[in-house]
Amino acid sequence: MPAEKLFEPLTFKNGVIIKNRLYKGAMSEGMADKTHRPTMELINAYKRWADGGIGISITGNVMIDRRYLGEPGNVVIEDERDLDILKDWSEAGKQNNSHIWMQINHPGKQSPKSVSKQPVAPSAIPISGSAGSAFNPPREMTLNEIQDTINRFIKTAIVAKKAGFTGVQIHGAHGYLISQFLSSRDNIRHDEYGGSLEKRMQFLIDIYTGMRAALGEKFPISLKINSTDFDDKGFSFEDSIAVIKKMDELGMNHIEISGGDYEKPEMMGEGEVYFLDYAKKISSEVDTPIAVIGGFRKKDSMIHAITHTDVSMIGIARALVLNPQLPNQLKANTYQDMTLPRLTTGVKVLDKMFGGFIGISYYEQQIRRLGNHKSPKVHQNAWSPLFDIAKIHGPYAFTKRRR
Ligand SMILES: Cc1cc2nc3c(=O)[nH]c(=O)nc-3n(C[C@H](O)[C@H](O)[C@H](O)COP(=O)(O)O)c2cc1C
Repeated sequence: MPAEKLFEPLTFKNGVIIKNRLYKGAMSEGMADKTHRPTMELINAYKRWADGGIGISITGNVMIDRRYLGEPGNVVIEDERDLDILKDWSEAGKQNNSHIWMQINHPGKQSPKSVSKQPVAPSAIPISGSAGSAFNPPREMTLNEIQDTINRFIKTAIVAKKAGFTGVQIHGAHGYLISQFLSSRDNIRHDEYGGSLEKRMQFLIDIYTGMRAALGEKFPISLKINSTDFDDKGFSFEDSIAVIKKMDELGMNHIEISGGDYEKPEMMGEGEVYFLDYAKKISSEVDTPIAVIGGFRKKDSMIHAITHTDVSMIGIARALVLNPQLPNQLKANTYQDMTLPRLTTGVKVLDKMFGGFIGISYYEQQIRRLGNHKSPKVHQNAWSPLFDIAKIHGPYAFTKRRR
């Protein structure tokens, strides 16, 4: 199948043009320094992706509040103190006519014990299941805290624009704070931010409309959102469709479909293109360009999604860590379909105990290699990324980590 369709530019309604249909999905790098400032190593990795021909690089999630991290090593932006290095970061990502969009997030209750004594959430409902032991139970946010959090999302976006990032993405997926507000299971508030779906959506709407007012019509704003929480525990298929339609109506520029959370990490499945059916359905119903991420590694699957559905962009995360030249290779017709390595400690119980953590630490290790001008190393030994992480983050290393 010819790959030309993947290289047709995409023009948003506000006139912004993306040079092709491929973007790098957000991957938390864990590469900020102790003060949560980006490092040169982090910035260098974005140069690699821009050189590789990607249309947009979406950054790993940047936190809006240093009291509530998703994990150690997060970049935090509360004000302009790091504007100088943030400018270097955006410059690196803009090379080769690429875009770089900053993903902005608050973990809510998914802030591990090692980084938050008491996380906050829409309601004081702890994380259930085996993942729960890594997190302290959350406390319910006050209305003042909700207002402050909305303002922080907006402030971080303003700093991102000032630093030269060409767009922002609101992280509304994977069970973090915005997902928690959207879910009737996590949000049992009785005020204007809880109850009906309209009210559960209000937090997201306030963040989006505040950002739009501050950033202007021409600045792309994206939303990453879960297609559904699968078990219909609090965010149903119909709920997710209703939220996407509302955000479409309000003028969101780009909506990325994913799924899963700490309790059910569907977003990092080993299968192929798992959210495409959903993305197909929703993209035929809204104007906003719909992007889908999760499981793209085969050239034909990417071409199929762009050619035979209304999906506008293809998101790729892990494959781009192992092969940052993937877009250029697709274009030159030299790309070889890849499979991701199956990492193991060699001991079944340990593999089970470390679970998704092994995968995450492996990809973080490889992003650090990109940042240090090295080639990614495809291997299956789970020990080396685990040791690396322990060396870098010390006692923080073995707490449950994000996706
Ligand atoms: C190391 C790592 C870190 C991730 N961090 C984030 C993140 O900060 N924000 C986010 O929305 N998704 C994050 N993800 C999920 C990816 O964006 C993506 O949805 C998922 O990996 C599926 O895409 P893939 O099959 O192309 O890897 C992360 C994934 C990995 C491997």
